[in-house]
Amino acid sequence: MKFFVDTANIDDIRAAQELGVLSGVTTNPSLVAKEGISFHDRLREITDVVSGSVSAEVIAEDAEGMIQEGKELAAIAPNITVKVPMTLEGLKAVKAFSDLNIKTNVTLIFNATQALLAARAGATYVSPFLGRLDDIGHDGMQLIATISEIFNRHQIHTEIIAASIRHPLHIVDAAVNGAHIATVPYKLFGQIVKHPLTDQGIEKFLADWNKQN
Ligand code: E4P
Repeated sequence: MKFFVDTANIDDIRAAQELGVLSGVTTNPSLVAKEGISFHDRLREITDVVSGSVSAEVIAEDAEGMIQEGKELAAIAPNITVKVPMTLEGLKAVKAFSDLNIKTNVTLIFNATQALLAARAGATYVSPFLGRLDDIGHDGMQLIATISEIFNRHQIHTEIIAASIRHPLHIVDAAVNGAHIATVPYKLFGQIVKHPLTDQGIEKFLADWNKQN
């Protein structure tokens, strides 16, 4: 499983890139709004830093508008992936992007049939939202497992991005259940790198070293 970072904050993206584990970035309209910057300018900054997939979401709700917006976003850099919401209009747009060889990430996936439809329309990625399902008492992780089983059984090459990740266990379980990618808020990298025994171990090694030197 690969790591994407889920943010539009350029400092966080640079910091994640420096860790050497980053394969891409996902943004969404809420994350971009928080930054208070021009979306296109920020995408230029991000694609200067990251060479992997950078998801940029369309705002239009009709297929024609999505296609127009998506073409403009895709023209910013070759690694832009157009993020499209899971709707009937979105599916039409995904098919059009697929015919144009523009990569897509179908977002706001909450059940397996949505994922299968998106894949059949030609989506490069599907993004099931784990945390938002867990928030309403559903089993987000089971959804990842089901989508993975369907894609494997039917030789579907669309990649699964585990999205709406809230805590470290989501990352482990997404990997075990067949997600190809986890898109992770930057602060989680700091959490998953930590283990108290690692810290204690470093402290002990240094203390022993310093006794002899
Ligand atoms: C994914 O692409 C989304 O941007 C994101 O993971 C949504 O997460 P949230 O439910 O924490 O807003």
